[in-house]
Amino acid sequence: MTAPTDIATPTNCPAVSGSDHRLVLACGVTLYRGDCLEIAPTLEGVDAIISDPPYGIAHVKGTGGKGEHTRRNIKAIEGDDKPFDPSPWLAYENVLIWGADHYAQRLPRGRWLVWDKLDGLESFDSFSDVEVAWHNRKGAARIFRYMWKGICQKGDKEGGRIHPTQKPVPLMAWCMDQAKVPAGATVLDPYMGSGSTIIAAIRTGRKAIGIEKDPEHFANAVERIQRELNQGDLFRSQNSCLTARHRRMTTARLRLRAMLAGLGTEQWSNQRRIEA
Ligand SMILES: C[S@@+](CC[C@H](N)C(=O)[O-])C[C@H]1O[C@@H](n2cnc3c(N)ncnc32)[C@H](O)[C@@H]1O
Repeated sequence: MTAPTDIATPTNCPAVSGSDHRLVLACGVTLYRGDCLEIAPTLEGVDAIISDPPYGIAHVKGTGGKGEHTRRNIKAIEGDDKPFDPSPWLAYENVLIWGADHYAQRLPRGRWLVWDKLDGLESFDSFSDVEVAWHNRKGAARIFRYMWKGICQKGDKEGGRIHPTQKPVPLMAWCMDQAKVPAGATVLDPYMGSGSTIIAAIRTGRKAIGIEKDPEHFANAVERIQRELNQGDLFRSQNSCLTARHRRMTTARLRLRAMLAGLGTEQWSNQRRIEA
């Protein structure tokens, strides 16, 4: 394996260790660049798998591994040119994986979760309006409504899309709640992509391990996760690497920004909730 491009770490969440393919941050985030099928079996202490694997869209469309993303001038997804095999993940205790309608015949009984990407809009293009996940637990099917379709994307744009199949952070946080992953527990996303699952874990006080095979996606995810950690979110608690002083500074910065924007106390609270 070749070394990842010089990984600089955030000052408030220093690297505990780094190697040619692994970056361990003090705040309970560990990122691997490599093949999850090789790395995951070596990991200990994984409480849940929350992931969005490549599920063979290019294969289904019969485009020989190039698929819809290439048609839109976006790099093809690693592994998207063959049907997804969920079997390596089925032995884990708590597993929630997206794209499950594409490989449903290979799954045991479980429950279904649906992401409604239109959130009230009329259907307006030829792409699917929903995505479906499978959770290896008994229970009711649930729906998450969050607009994220073409150019119609709800607030959480995260500074633009950096991955062709990027999931919204609030969706991945919802998955962790659905899977009842306790605060402080460790979530593994073996197909990390842009790192949305990792950011959702950080924001909700869980620990996270991410694995990504594609060096370019890995580098982009590291950068995005660092940005998130540097930002110093007020609402991180359990998992937080922030000092109390840093938290006070962040609160003061938000209050000042709200004052400059001419907002009152109540609006400031709302603004703070929105920014969370
Ligand atoms: C559907 S995308 C995940 C997107 C992610 N949910 C996000 O929000 O950005 C699947 C990712 O898995 C990666 N991948 C495919 N096969 C892999 C493997 N064997 N090991 C690790 N990563 C892999 C791909 O490069 C791709 O970035």
